[in-house]
Amino acid sequence: MEMLELAGKAHDESRQGEAYDPLVKETVLYKKRFYIESYGCAMNFADSEVVASILNAEGFGATRNEAEADLIFLNTCSIREKAEMTVRKRLTEFRSLKKKKPGMLIGMLGCMAERLKSQLLEEEKLVDLVVGPDAYRSLPALIGEAETGQKAVNVLLSRDETYGDIAPIRLDSNGVCAFVSIMRGCNNMCSFCVVPFTRGRERSRDAHSIIKEVEQLFQAGYREVTLLGQNVDSYYWIDEQKDETITFAKLLEKTALVSPLLRVRFSTSHPKDITDEVLFTIAKYDNICNYIHLPVQSGSNRILQLMNRTYTREWYIAKVNRIREILPGCGVSTDMITGFCTETEEDHRDSYTLMEYCKYDLAYMYYYSERPGTLAERRYEDDIPEETKKRRLQEIIALHRIHSLESMQRDVNKTFKVLIEANSKKSDSDWHGRTDHNKVVIFPKENYQLQKGDYVNVRINSCTAGTLLGTINN
Ligand code: SAM
Ligand code: SF4
Ligand code: F3S
Repeated sequence: MEMLELAGKAHDESRQGEAYDPLVKETVLYKKRFYIESYGCAMNFADSEVVASILNAEGFGATRNEAEADLIFLNTCSIREKAEMTVRKRLTEFRSLKKKKPGMLIGMLGCMAERLKSQLLEEEKLVDLVVGPDAYRSLPALIGEAETGQKAVNVLLSRDETYGDIAPIRLDSNGVCAFVSIMRGCNNMCSFCVVPFTRGRERSRDAHSIIKEVEQLFQAGYREVTLLGQNVDSYYWIDEQKDETITFAKLLEKTALVSPLLRVRFSTSHPKDITDEVLFTIAKYDNICNYIHLPVQSGSNRILQLMNRTYTREWYIAKVNRIREILPGCGVSTDMITGFCTETEEDHRDSYTLMEYCKYDLAYMYYYSERPGTLAERRYEDDIPEETKKRRLQEIIALHRIHSLESMQRDVNKTFKVLIEANSKKSDSDWHGRTDHNKVVIFPKENYQLQKGDYVNVRINSCTAGTLLGTINN
C-alpha cells in the first residue's frame, strides 16, 4: 500500500524514470520501470520478490501502475487449466496496452513459461520474453536481448539454484508477514501434478542464508515468517563447517530462536514425511504456530495409489490423530481433488467420510484438471464427466462449510493472542489480525495505542464462516 501510494506520487509529479524504492525507502532515478503480477502458490509470490530484487540491482524500479511500466511480467501458474486461461486472458489485455506503447516488453515468468517454453514466443507471439523459475538471474541479459528484437528465452531448470544469496524485495507487503523460501522443486511424482516438471528437482536452501533473511526481516519490523516449500518436511541441508545435518525440525527450531516475538509458520507438509520431531518442536516453542496444512487429495486408498501419494487413508488418519495428540487444538487444513481418473461414487464417499472424520478448519478443494505431460495424463483416461467432478466438488464444499463454521464457533467466548497485521479492509477503526491457529480476527481499535506488528489479547464474541469478531481483553 505504502509503495503504491508513493509510486503514484512520483507519477503525479511526472518525473520521468523516478520511482519509490521500497528497499532504500526513497525516490530514486531508475532507467526503466517494471510491473509484476503473480499467480499460483505462495512460492510463486516469493519468487516475484526475488525477481524484483534482481531487477532492482540492475537499475529497474517497481511500479504498481501497469500503464507507466516499460516491462510487464506475469509470474504464472500451470497447476490447473483454469489458471493458465486466466493468464492468457490477462496477456491479451497487456497486448492492447503494448499497442499504445510499442517499446514496452511483456515477459512470462514461472511455471507456465517453463511448461510452454518458446511456444508462446514463436507460435503464438504473445510475449517478448519467456523465463522459467530457475533462470531469473539471466533476466537482465534477456531483457537486453528482447530490446534488440531477439528471442529471449531461458527455461533451463537447475539442480542447485535456490536464490539463497538474494535478498527479496517485499512487494505489496503489510510489513508484518513475509514468505521465506527454504527449498525449491519437488521429487514427489504425484501423478496429477505438473510441479515436478515446471519446478524441477527438489533442493534445499543453505540454512545460514534462511536464518540471516529471517533475522533481517525481524530487524525490519516483521513479526511473522512462513517457511515455504512444496514438501517442507524433506528439507535437508548439511552444514559442512560444523558437520551438522539440518532437518526441517532443526530449521524450525533455529527460526523460532531468532526471537520469541516472531511467529513462525510453514507450508506445505506431506503426510508421508511429517515427523514426530517436527510436532514436538512445534509443541516446544510458543512462537511456532499451531497450524498444519496437510493435503490429503483423496480419502480412497485406490485413488491415493493411482495418484502416487504413497500413503493410505489409515496412515493419513493416524498422522492427524498424532497431530491432535501432541498438539491439542492445532489447526489442520487440507487440499482435496474430486473426479480424479476412474473415481467411483464409492471413492468419492471415502473422501467425504475422511473429511467427516478430520473436520478440517480450512480446506482448498478442486475438481481434477488433466495437465499435459503428467503421469496421469500419460497413464490414465480423464474419464469422469465434468458435471460429475463439479457435483462431487460441491458436495465436499458443502460438508466443509459445516466443519469450518463449527471450528469458528468453538472459538467464541475464548481469548486469543492476536498478531495485528493491518487495518480491517472495511473500517480504519478496526484491526485485522490472526490467531496462532491462522484464523482471521477483526476487532475495534478503541483507545488503545497499538500498531501493526503488536500482539494483543482478543476475546471472541461472535463469528462468521471465515472471520472471528472480538474485543481487546488486555
Ligand atoms: N505440494 C503440495 C502437496 O503436496 O500437497 C501442494 C501442491 S499444489 C501447488 C496445490 C494443490 O493443487 C494440490 O495439493 C492439489 O490439491 C491441487 N492440484 C494439483 N494438481 C492438480 C490438478 N491437476 N487438478 C486439480 N487440482 C490439482
Ligand atoms: Fe505436486 Fe505432489 Fe510435489 Fe505437491 S508433493 S508439488 S502435489 S508432486
Ligand atoms: Fe502453480 Fe507453479 Fe505454484 S504450477 S501452484 S505456481 S509451483
